[in-house]
Amino acid sequence: MIVGLVKEIKNQESRVGLTPSGTAAYVAAGHKVLIETHAGEGSGFADGEYQSAGGQILPSAGDVWDAAQMIVKVKEPVESEYAYLKENQIVYTYLHLAADKPLTDALLKAKTQALAYETITDASGALPCLAPMSTIAGRMAVAEGAKYLETTFGGRGVLLAGVPGVEQGKVVIIGAGTVGMEACKIAVGLGAQVTIIDINLKRLAYLDDIFGNKIQTLYSTPANIRAAISEADIVVGAVLIPGKKAPHLVEKADLAFMKKGSVLVDVAVDQGGCFETTRATTHQEPTFIDSGIVHYCVANMPGAVARTATLALTNTTLTPGLKIASRGIAGAVRTDEHLRNGLNTCNGYCTYKGVAETFGIPYVSALEAV
Ligand SMILES: NC(=O)c1ccc[n+]([C@@H]2O[C@H](COP(=O)([O-])OP(=O)(O)OC[C@H]3O[C@@H](n4cnc5c(N)ncnc54)[C@H](O)[C@@H]3O)[C@@H](O)[C@H]2O)c1
Repeated sequence: MIVGLVKEIKNQESRVGLTPSGTAAYVAAGHKVLIETHAGEGSGFADGEYQSAGGQILPSAGDVWDAAQMIVKVKEPVESEYAYLKENQIVYTYLHLAADKPLTDALLKAKTQALAYETITDASGALPCLAPMSTIAGRMAVAEGAKYLETTFGGRGVLLAGVPGVEQGKVVIIGAGTVGMEACKIAVGLGAQVTIIDINLKRLAYLDDIFGNKIQTLYSTPANIRAAISEADIVVGAVLIPGKKAPHLVEKADLAFMKKGSVLVDVAVDQGGCFETTRATTHQEPTFIDSGIVHYCVANMPGAVARTATLALTNTTLTPGLKIASRGIAGAVRTDEHLRNGLNTCNGYCTYKGVAETFGIPYVSALEAV
C-alpha cells in the first residue's frame, strides 16, 4: 500500500496523523510512506526524522494525495481538500460526518473509502480511537472553562477553588463518558463543587464509586439539567450518541436561568453541540457571548496540545491503520467487524447508519459496499 501523510490545514491544527515511529512500522510491514514536507513540524517532528524512519518527503499536499492509495490524517478534509478526494482511495481520519453534510456529499460523490476514527469499535463496544482525544479534551475543558470564567474574558470572576471563607465554584458536567469523567477529575482536583449528569445509571454508579462524596451524580432529565445549570459557574457539554448529531440538552431559553458570566464549554461541538446556542469556534477566537453566557466551542481542542495529542492519537490509530494497509479496504472490512464499523462511506454509498439517518440518505452495509 502507498500510504500518504498530509499536513493538517484546519485552523490552528498542529497535530499530524503519523509519527516517525509510526512511519517506521508501516515501512517495516512492507508499505511505502509519502509525507508532505513539514507535515509533522507542528507536533515537533522534522522531515529528517520521517526520512530516517524510511518515509519519502514530497513537496506538496497535492503530490501526496495524487500518489497515495491510503491517506492518513487527523481532522476531516476541509473544503479546500475536497478536490483531492477520489475513487479507490482510503481516507483514514476523524470525520464526524453527522455534523457535516457538505463533506458527506463530497465523500459520496468522489466514491472515497472513508474510515472514521471515531466509529471504529473494540471488543468492549468502546470507541478506542476517540478515547485519547476525549481524554485530552475532557482534561482541557475545565481548565479552559476556569480561564474564561475570569473577569477579563467576560466571565463572572469566580475562582473554582474558592478561598477560605469564600465558597468554591460549581462545575456541572453533562455526559459522564470519557470526556465527562476526565473533566470530573480535573474539576475535583481544582477543588470545585462538581455535579455530573448522564442517562447511563451504571456509569453514574461507577463514578459514584470512584469519587465518593466529592461529586454529585444526577440522572439526565430536562428538569435536573435546568436545576443544575442554574447554579453552575461552568457547564461542560460531553454527551455523545455515536454517529449521530448531539441532542440539544440546554436550549437558548434555559440560558435565562443561568448566572450571567457563567461559562458553557461544549466539547460535543464536533457532533453539532449539545447546547442550542453552540456554534463552532477556533483556538484563535475560542469564545463568544450569547445571552450573557460565555460559550467556548472549539471543535479541535486537542490541537492546542499538539505534541501530546499526536502521540496519544497515533498510539491508538497505528494498529488498525496497519491492518487496513495490509488487507486493503475490502479485506479489512470483511475480516474485522471493528474496522467495518469504522467505514462511513465507500464507493458512493453511505455505510454508517447514524449518518444515513441524520441526512435521510440511503444506507448500504459496509459488507455490501466494498
Ligand atoms: N471538541 C473537541 O475537541 C473534542 C475532542 C474529543 C471528543 N469530543 C467530543 O466529545 C463528545 C463526548 O465524547 P466521549 O468520548 O466522552 O463520548 P462517550 O461515549 O464516552 O460519552 C458520552 C456520554 O454521553 C452520555 N449521554 C448520551 N445521551 C445523554 C443525555 N441525553 N444526557 C446525558 N448524557 C447522555 C452517554 O451515556 C455517555 O456516557 C463527543 O461528541 C466527542 O466527539 C470533542
